[in-house]
Amino acid sequence: MLSKIKSCGLIGIDGYILEVETDISNGMPVFEIVGLADIAVKESKERVRSAIKNSGLEFPVRRITINLSPANIKKEGSSFDLPIALGILTATEQIVNGALDKYMFIGELSLDGEIKPVHGILPMAIAALKEGMEYLVLPAANADEAAVVKGLRILPVKNITEVILHLNGEKQLDEYTIDINELFKNKTEYEIDFADVKGQDNVKRALEVAASGAHNCIMIGSPGSGKSMVAKRLPTILPAMSFEEALEVTKIHSIAGMLPSNTSLVTTRPFRSPHHTISDVSLVGGGKYPKPGEISLAHYGVLFLDELPEFSKEALEVLRQPLEDGMVNISRVNASLSYPAKTMLLCAANPCKCGNFLDPSKQCTCTPKQVQQYLGRLSGPLLDRIDIHIEVASVKYKDLESTKDEEKSSEIRERVNRARKIQLERYKGLRIYSNSQLQPSMMNKYCRLDEDCRQLLKNAFEKLGLSARAHNRILKVSRTIADIEQSEDIKQRHIAEAIQYRSLDRKFWAG
Ligand SMILES: Nc1ncnc2c1ncn2[C@@H]1O[C@H](COP(=O)(O)OP(=O)(O)O)[C@@H](O)[C@H]1O
Ligand SMILES: [Mg+2]
Ligand SMILES: [Zn+2]
Repeated sequence: MLSKIKSCGLIGIDGYILEVETDISNGMPVFEIVGLADIAVKESKERVRSAIKNSGLEFPVRRITINLSPANIKKEGSSFDLPIALGILTATEQIVNGALDKYMFIGELSLDGEIKPVHGILPMAIAALKEGMEYLVLPAANADEAAVVKGLRILPVKNITEVILHLNGEKQLDEYTIDINELFKNKTEYEIDFADVKGQDNVKRALEVAASGAHNCIMIGSPGSGKSMVAKRLPTILPAMSFEEALEVTKIHSIAGMLPSNTSLVTTRPFRSPHHTISDVSLVGGGKYPKPGEISLAHYGVLFLDELPEFSKEALEVLRQPLEDGMVNISRVNASLSYPAKTMLLCAANPCKCGNFLDPSKQCTCTPKQVQQYLGRLSGPLLDRIDIHIEVASVKYKDLESTKDEEKSSEIRERVNRARKIQLERYKGLRIYSNSQLQPSMMNKYCRLDEDCRQLLKNAFEKLGLSARAHNRILKVSRTIADIEQSEDIKQRHIAEAIQYRSLDRKFWAG
């Protein structure tokens, strides 16, 4: 007997439909899985055999061949257990249902027949809908994740027995639904807020500018000056995520197995803060069983690299291309895959080796040459992608003590939203959405300066010894500052502020 059961596999962040073909014939009792199955899939045999027997069903003592089709894509993971078991039960007529075409099955089995959660359910559910499936039978613990896909009937199951009873018409499974709007309304709140940060108005302003134009930035300041504190709060002033953005972020977290159970959607922007000892692969993704890296987990959110000079040169180098493209490409033997990586990069660094260079109350023990070398060695590819440099001085005691109410993240975010809207409107049809993405060819049109502004910029270059790479960065950031003010033209004060954000181009660091 031959049976066919539909299931789903993953390539990159997308699901593809897969058919589990089961052939049972007389002959030597063997159990074989073919169709580019990796070791984890082959281990499925033992689980399927035990799960079927322990559910009081019959496991055939005949020749069993499972083919996972299409055969040219490598199959990974444990999510095919359930469809394989159902293939065997159908081929042996323990399941009698003529309409399995409309069903997709996903799930890992434990030896006693329980169905355990798997990674990557959301992209699989999206693929199921796209392929015209009507029902998705999946582990109960993954139900919330799949239920955000509207138009698909979600049937959560706890064990094999429930599936059989349903398919044989003896006990119907309940369909699972959730209210997405409700979910979105309640979950877009953060527990931290910019109002927690006392004083530091210039730092807050700089981050508002960064958020408004999606500019990458670096904060330079002594230990304890609050860099980590403000960094964590950057997502709270970014525009709220749209449903489409939330879906994409959730897909990535789902595939990486980072989605907490009973979570439907990641509704707040991610904030990822990998330690400086992180490997290249964990940072950008890949590996034997490819997984998204930190830069993709930070998709539509913030990637925070604390203690930037401590990261290896190689790690910073591998970030360069993905930051430029908003995407990570990984080539493999059978196929190449890509993970989205549109993230805002935020870095933090001490100003010098001893950390005190910017602190007026402490003595820097570094020589001028050491100061120059410390951040100077960062220059190059990564720094070239950073628009805004923020000097963070230690918070003043009188600010720390003050009981004055600080501005809330929600108020800052309103201005950010307004500035982003202007950019969306302006760049309609150009495939960019923010000032940070302006290409050199677009600068003439969108960052036009009048004679006074041009003169100001020229003087700044000569007096401050700015490097050439600073030029376009200053123009882009000026554009953003003008947008925050809702000014169509870039004015001198916008340029003057943008110049303030180029500390690392000045002589003592740039070398
Ligand atoms: N402006 C500030 N307002 C309130 N607390 C602050 C401020 N700056 C620093 N702190 C306090 O100091 C601690 C250390 O700051 P942190 O962000 O770790 O500094 P850094 O990362 O620059 O070394 C914070 O957790 C916070 O409690
Ligand atoms: Mg810190
Ligand atoms: Zn020092």
